[in-house]
Formats: sequence, C-alpha cells, structure tokens
Amino acid sequence: MKRAAIKGVMGYLPEDKLTNTDLEKLVDTTDEWIKTRTGISERRILKKEGWASSDMGAEAVKGLLKKTNTSPDEIDLLICATVTADMVFPDNANTICNKSGINNAFGFDINAACSGFLYSLTTGAKFIESGMCNKVIVVGTDMMSSIIDYTDRTTCVLFGDGAGAILLEASTDDTGIINSQFGGDGAGSAFLHMKAGGSKKPATVETVMNREHFVYQEGRSVFKYAVKGMANSINTVMKRSGLNAEDINWVVPHQANLRIINSVASSAGVPLEQVMINIHKYGNTTSGTLPLCLWDYESQLKKGDNLILTAFGGGFTWGATHIKWSYDGSDFSS
Ligand code: COA
Repeated sequence: MKRAAIKGVMGYLPEDKLTNTDLEKLVDTTDEWIKTRTGISERRILKKEGWASSDMGAEAVKGLLKKTNTSPDEIDLLICATVTADMVFPDNANTICNKSGINNAFGFDINAACSGFLYSLTTGAKFIESGMCNKVIVVGTDMMSSIIDYTDRTTCVLFGDGAGAILLEASTDDTGIINSQFGGDGAGSAFLHMKAGGSKKPATVETVMNREHFVYQEGRSVFKYAVKGMANSINTVMKRSGLNAEDINWVVPHQANLRIINSVASSAGVPLEQVMINIHKYGNTTSGTLPLCLWDYESQLKKGDNLILTAFGGGFTWGATHIKWSYDGSDFSS
C-alpha cells in the first residue's frame, strides 16, 4: 500500500509575548500557580494590525515551501485545522492558498478543536495513499487570543497563538504515517465550548454583553477525559504497530497542560526526555501544538524514528498516530 511521508515542517509564532507576570496584572493569579498547575511561563499573542489566523498559517506555509524547495504549483491539496478561521466562511484553507501563491490546489478546513491537526494529518495522508494527490500541505493555525476572555483566570492563562505546517508526499520506503486511532464523544461539549456565535445562538448585543463569544471550559472534567482518551489511543496504536515502550523514540503530545503530558508519557512508559514539550514557551496553541513541537525538535529527529503523536480536544475529540519519521532532521537547517 502507498504510504504518506512527512517531508518537512515549519512553524510561525507571533513576536509579542504574554508572560505570567503580565497576566498577574489582568486577573487574580500568580506566576507560581500557573507554572505549577499548567507548566506555562509565557505565550505568543498576534497583535500585527490586520492579521488573523490565516496570516500565521500562510507564513508557515510559505516558509515550508521555501525550505522543502517546493513550487506552490506542485501542491494538490491544502488542509487547514483551526477553530479560529478568519471568518465563519469561507474556510481558511483557500485563504491560505491565496496568500501563499498556491493556485492549483483544492482546500478545506477541519474543526476538531485541539485534535484538529492530528485528524487533518491522517486525512491528508489518505489523499496520498489513495493516489488522488501527490503533494499535500497540512497546516494548523489558531489565534486563540481572539476567543479568550482575558477577565477569566481559568482559561486566559492557558492559551496562545501560533501555526505550524507539514508537507506530505508518497513515501519511497517503509517510513511514513503508519496507523491512527481516533475517538469522539459529543457529550463532552458540555465541558468545553463557545456558547454563542454559531447557528444555535447567533451574535446579539446580549451575547456580547454576557461574554458568550469566548472559550468556556470546565477544566477539571476535561483534564480527566484528556488523560484517559490519549492514553487509550496511544495504547491501541502501539498494539496495532506491534510497538513496545522501548521502540518509541518520541511521544509528541498535544500541549494543554504539563501535568496531562506527564501522565500520558508515564502511561505510555516513555521517559520525559523522549517527550516533545514546548508548552512553557507557547501555552496551548490548539491546532498549532503538534506541528510546532515537530518544528522545535526537528533537528533531533532521525530517519526511522518511531513517533507517537497524540491529542485531545473539544467535542470531545481525541486520538493517536504512529509515524515512522522519513528524514534526518539535521539535513534541514531551519
Ligand atoms: N490562578 C489562580 N487560581 C486559579 C486559576 C488561576 N489562573 N484558575 C483556577 N484557579 C483556582 C480555581 O478557582 C480553584 O479555586 P477554588 O478551589 O477556590 O475553587 C482552584 O484554582 C483549583 O481549580 P481547578 O479547576 O480544580 O484547577 P486544576 O488543577 O484542575 O487546573 C486547569 C485547572 C484548567 C489548568 C486544568 O484543569 C486543565 O488543564 N484542564 C484541562 C485543560 C485541557 O486539557 N484542555 C484540553 C482541550 S484544549
């Protein structure tokens, strides 16, 4: 069977930082509480005039094309994972293509909250495996600062803005995206959602006054489901691929909370030195966390490394994917 391989990865982060000390001035919190309960020290916030999530995605995509020596005309499909598209419609994918000079592709968005990038990656891989596409870009981009209430201490300390993108092509060897397991539970929407702005409750003066256009989260419940969902998916994917803990070179977890990352790593039996972590620098960038981890750690990746990616998000949505890495990261000087 044809297999899809990741051929390059690129990230984009806004320059402006929002530190825990900055947040101490906005809400009743402390640097110590945030660090010990979440592992986050600072996050990036997009403040560039007129810019939105598609601009961060387009920057990552343009950098990716350049880095992998790929002409925009070669791209057949671009999938964008996001919960903060520039507009309710059209999608971000076509906007990003337009901003990146990609003219021969079709595109669409996937909204699976924090699992969006993982779901999009497998979706993109299927278009390669089926032979329908030769080159696919998957981008995750979220401007969480546009939907965060900076008067709510339970959510505003968690999220940041950022984007990452990867290029998929057919594998020429046994490396590539090997298998995925995904799960979902719509009952989870009670714990993590945005109350207004959708068709159920379109925007009115009242919804704005009631601050209903922001992320609503019952953190403690989400925490429990997240640990369970990711641990179960990792377990299934490892079994399907016949992997033991010692066969895994890297766990690449969604970056929502360092305590969640620690328990997911320990249930997979993988030491923390082999777990990609950048939550301290960026917080939870939703669709951006996984490609930004791959980007940060790319230089340490070797061809043939076994990576387990895992994510959990609103929906609830969750899953894990086993990738046999396709190139030596040191070949790229990103
Ligand atoms: N600063 C100080 N205190 C805070 C605080 C903050 N920023 N946020 C909450 N608190 C307080 C609460 O009000 C509560 O006080 P109380 O005991 O007086 O009522 C106390 O801290 C404990 O709150 P709790 O919600 O139980 O904390 P927690 O340890 O569960 O941590 C989260 C909260 C949100 C960090 C954590 O639950 C979490 O990460 N959840 C999962 C998030 C996630 O994975 N999302 C996935 C989708 S992206």
